[in-house]
Amino acid sequence: MQKTIFEGMNIYPHDTVVPFKDSKESKKKQVENMFDKIAFRYDFLNRFLSAGIDVGWRKKAIRQLVSANPKNILDVATGTGDFALTCYEILKPEKIIGIDISEGMLDIGRKKIEKAGLQQKIELLNGDSEAILFDDNTFDAVTVAFGVRNFENLEKGLAEIRRVLKPGGKLVVLEFTKPSLPVIKQLYNFYMNTITPKIGKIIAKNNEAYQYLNDSVLQFPEKESFIHILNQSDYRSAFYKTLTLGICSIYCAEK
Ligand SMILES: C[S@@+](CC[C@H](N)C(=O)[O-])C[C@H]1O[C@@H](n2cnc3c(N)ncnc32)[C@H](O)[C@@H]1O
Repeated sequence: MQKTIFEGMNIYPHDTVVPFKDSKESKKKQVENMFDKIAFRYDFLNRFLSAGIDVGWRKKAIRQLVSANPKNILDVATGTGDFALTCYEILKPEKIIGIDISEGMLDIGRKKIEKAGLQQKIELLNGDSEAILFDDNTFDAVTVAFGVRNFENLEKGLAEIRRVLKPGGKLVVLEFTKPSLPVIKQLYNFYMNTITPKIGKIIAKNNEAYQYLNDSVLQFPEKESFIHILNQSDYRSAFYKTLTLGICSIYCAEK
């Protein structure tokens, strides 16, 4: 895939896509602030903007782990904990740890876990995917839903995830991709570029966040390019599957 003028520094174009274009803060700080701001509407907007389809995507991604029967799972960029909760529902592991840099998102997630009575099974911690607070070879599986696109340094995050996976441990990533069929592509572009930021502005009082969603999806290395990065990051047996006309993909790999 194409690198920018920062060749050699592992900076891909997506690293330069930030939520607040005039801000001097790092991408990581901007992403944290943005998710803190929209946390109160995040779950609602996810369901609303995807017409509930994201629930099925999450289930399909997690089912990739059924045969591995992981006992302890790390959910990176866990946000409000939806992926961690679905993981528990499907896989019933001994323990799931979720990490995220946005305390606002984690607060909502912790309330949901408490409501489900799963505090002994799912624990949400403030933590950065690019400096994971666990020892090498800790987890049987790591999951990331709609998170990798937001990393400040994708390769660093993937290297950290690999470090904490046990040998043979599985990585499952769920991420938006761009549809390639002509008419679908045009409808998708209109929806993501025009409708989504407007709805984000009305419901979450924040159109930057949903403009950033569109911009970051456009720039993110997807499908074969993301598989290439996984291979370069020393993952084995990497493959992907597209969902719903190619607007989302599941990536699987192992250490
Ligand atoms: C689109 S949300 C996804 C949340 C959740 N996984 C889901 O499926 O709904 C992206 C999340 O990534 C988190 N994030 C971004 N960069 C991160 C990093 N370096 N370490 C941990 N979390 C990060 C954000 O704070 C945000 O909660």
